[in-house]
Amino acid sequence: MSNGMFDLSGKAAVVTGGNGGIGLGMAVGLAEAGADVLVAARNREKTDAAVRRLQSLGARAVGITTNVQNEDEVRDMVRRALDEFGRLDILVNNAGIGIRKAPQDYTLDDWNLIMDINLTGTFLPCREAYPHMAAAGGGKIINIGSMTSIFGHDLVMPYSASKGGVVQLTKSLATAWAKDNIQVNAILPGWIETDLTEPLRTEDVFRERYELISARIPHGRWGRPDDMAGTAVFLAAGASDYVTGVSIPVDGGYVAF
Ligand SMILES: NC(=O)c1ccc[n+]([C@@H]2O[C@H](COP(=O)([O-])OP(=O)(O)OC[C@H]3O[C@@H](n4cnc5c(N)ncnc54)[C@H](OP(=O)(O)O)[C@@H]3O)[C@@H](O)[C@H]2O)c1
Repeated sequence: MSNGMFDLSGKAAVVTGGNGGIGLGMAVGLAEAGADVLVAARNREKTDAAVRRLQSLGARAVGITTNVQNEDEVRDMVRRALDEFGRLDILVNNAGIGIRKAPQDYTLDDWNLIMDINLTGTFLPCREAYPHMAAAGGGKIINIGSMTSIFGHDLVMPYSASKGGVVQLTKSLATAWAKDNIQVNAILPGWIETDLTEPLRTEDVFRERYELISARIPHGRWGRPDDMAGTAVFLAAGASDYVTGVSIPVDGGYVAF
């Protein structure tokens, strides 16, 4: 991407869960717009492969093994970005998991795991990045919600609660940190072809549900990770400097239907 209000040259980004799926789709977009990228996730092999892909685009990219549940590892993640790039301008909180079952069947461990990764794992990187962004005069935080930030869902109740929380977390941080010139926004992906949704798309038991979902997407197909890149670049760039606290569905029209 050329210069101008979408140019990220000289900017440094951290993408949690950036080693695959939507996270990698956004990381590629940020790298193509000129940003340096730190990919942070648990699976080292996947992270190394993602870093190689970003480097093949000409980006400065490095990987770190991080579990966003772990406060010390999140602190190390932010420190590593500062050590590698000398700055941290963009934080994308994308790491997330889901477990599918009926609400009454969730154990407390299930509930805590999902909350720890999806919601606490969004809060902790924000908190660790804040002082550095504030001291530098500003920054961009992009949190990843879901259609279940808006709609209820019978099979992913704790996931839905965590993603609803991500939207409210986003609004609260946006309100608090506007004075620091830190914009905090969320992307709400629609139904995207990734490992997370693979069972939904391929297993017989979900066949009827898959067809109902697919029929409700006005665009006419499920999304792909690279469909998230443009909105991520917008929210990371100067183009969105007066945009904060919003949650943008990127869903092929699913919410509108
Ligand atoms: N696919 C969809 O339709 C859809 C729709 C709405 C929202 N989303 C959201 O989009 C985000 C990405 O999901 P995806 O669909 O791309 O699924 P995915 O391919 O399974 O990606 C999940 C990513 O999160 C990382 N991750 C999971 N737990 C982590 C932890 N504790 N610490 C650090 N990284 C962790 C994974 O890497 P490691 O396993 O290596 O740690 C992986 O990179 C999630 O927040 C998800 O809720 C997805």
